[in-house]
Amino acid sequence: MIGEYNPYLEYRGGELYLEEVSLKSLAEEFGTPLYVYSASYVRDRLRAYREAFPDALVCYAVKANYNPHIIALAKEEGAGADIVSGGELYVSLLAGVEPSKIVYAGVGKTLKELEYAVDLEILLFNVESPMELEVLDQVAQKMGKKARVAIRVNPDVDPKTHPYISTGMKKSKFGVDIKTARKEYEQARRLKNLCVVGIHCHIGSQILDVSPYVEASQKVVELYWELLKAGFDIEYLDLGGGLGIKYKPDQSNPEPADLAEAILPVVKDTRAKLILEPGRSVVGNAGVLLTQVQFLKDKGHKHFVIVDAGMNDLVRPAMYSAYHHIVPVEKKDRPYVKTDVVGPICETGDFLALDREIPAVERGEYLAVLSAGAYGFAMSSHYNLRPRACEVLVEGSSYRVIREREDYSHLVGELLPKKP
Ligand code: LLP
Repeated sequence: MIGEYNPYLEYRGGELYLEEVSLKSLAEEFGTPLYVYSASYVRDRLRAYREAFPDALVCYAVKANYNPHIIALAKEEGAGADIVSGGELYVSLLAGVEPSKIVYAGVGKTLKELEYAVDLEILLFNVESPMELEVLDQVAQKMGKKARVAIRVNPDVDPKTHPYISTGMKKSKFGVDIKTARKEYEQARRLKNLCVVGIHCHIGSQILDVSPYVEASQKVVELYWELLKAGFDIEYLDLGGGLGIKYKPDQSNPEPADLAEAILPVVKDTRAKLILEPGRSVVGNAGVLLTQVQFLKDKGHKHFVIVDAGMNDLVRPAMYSAYHHIVPVEKKDRPYVKTDVVGPICETGDFLALDREIPAVERGEYLAVLSAGAYGFAMSSHYNLRPRACEVLVEGSSYRVIREREDYSHLVGELLPKKP
């Protein structure tokens, strides 16, 4: 069962392993909370995308897990980067991604960020508003460069996912309305320092049914032909990311091959190169969050397992009521209890699981929170002044720390007066 999350995750002699490495031994060596990722899994996922979409450029969505060692793995597997900030651009370069494989989305790019990316001549600015087009044109002019743009269109498709991560519906802040996008394309064409080369669309995240992709890509392809007729040279169709993963034991998820089967027939007659921006489906199930049981508390009507990972380490349950499967690192024959698994933070919303049947664990034991590789560490914070967790990457029987655990000095670093 557990192998359905990640084939490199399995119990051996009653102990949970990721690849050839015992998770208990990692927890003991590096302490908890501890993020552990499987490099082979990340490679496999990118290979699956490559095989399903041999002609596409896959730009790994850095926001899902921005550890430069993870981005470097994606790069080694031929991926570029999908970024949304100057920080993500900086880290992608650090990881060795070539600017010619970087696409940049986001509704609020600052002048400084635009200048940084224009200077590097990245592959594509996914522009989200008419005003951004104007500003990008001015920046490019000032720098004596031409910026390649795609306009992010909003196809008004319901991706049937959590409302906070639906991005392609009419009411959302993202993109411009696809029905009137022609207007923005004409505007962009008049701007001398922009080169209009693509259409961008990202409808949401954790999408478990490929039909919204079909609907969105049909609308994008319609726009493509309209633009071609109007004399635009559209070289790229960037269909974003969003493919969902397994979080719940009874959940099944589409594979990159299923996505290919659904959308390749829709785009096949165009001459444009396809770009995809997967994040979660590359790294989500590569990672687990290890946490140690601190206390057990029985209030009669309610039982609590109190662990050392809080909403500052993994905010998804608190933020989206997201389900993350939780298993003990040591498998024993024991009864199940219905419990809340909660963190140490001073908020009622600080939980990893509510009313969950899990094996009756003991103080000091380690638990593994599954599917934590995407939007886990990436959304972590210092809330309650808790230093951020350590991250370890395993591959085969080797492992290495890819981010040291923070200590208290990291909590005040920004407060100290800067040296002249
Ligand atoms: N491209 C764009 C323009 C995006 O906005 C996103 C995600 C992606 C690609 C990658 O989507 P993915 O393949 O990872 O679904 N924090 C939320 C997810 C927010 C996703 C935001 N945009 C969560 O924890 O569920």
